[in-house]
Amino acid sequence: MTANKRIALSSDHAAIALRQTIAEHIKAQGWEPVDIGPTSPESTHYPKHGQAAAELVASGDCDLGIILCGTGQGIMMAANKVKGIRCGVCSDTFSASMIRAHNNANMLSIGARVVGEGLALDIVDAYLGTEFEGGRHATRVDMIGE
Ligand code: RB5
Repeated sequence: MTANKRIALSSDHAAIALRQTIAEHIKAQGWEPVDIGPTSPESTHYPKHGQAAAELVASGDCDLGIILCGTGQGIMMAANKVKGIRCGVCSDTFSASMIRAHNNANMLSIGARVVGEGLALDIVDAYLGTEFEGGRHATRVDMIGE
């Protein structure tokens, strides 16, 4: 996938710094981060932030989304409740690439308390740098939607 696409970003309080680092990282590569926060370090509730980013992707306002919480799990669960969203949590680059190649995941979730900054950025690069392969995988992805 080529850069300059719009990438929705959100997190809870556990991942603000990493989210902002990711936003700067992808912007430097030519992507357009749409960072909807939060910016306050106060404790907040990951479901509403996951939903908000997912709705940007599901509506077509953003092409893809990257969301974060402490583990990446809770916010992923919330995002996947929005129709049309396929979001996977990744702690390794192979999975980050494969959720694009085989699952056409339109959102990536990362646990800020699970992976360090360097690995998180590599995961983001693997995710954004991989295209959906289509073919037999399209049949399976369609089945998820059904
Ligand atoms: C917040 O303490 C934590 O529960 C949250 O960031 C996330 O890990 C939930 O899945």
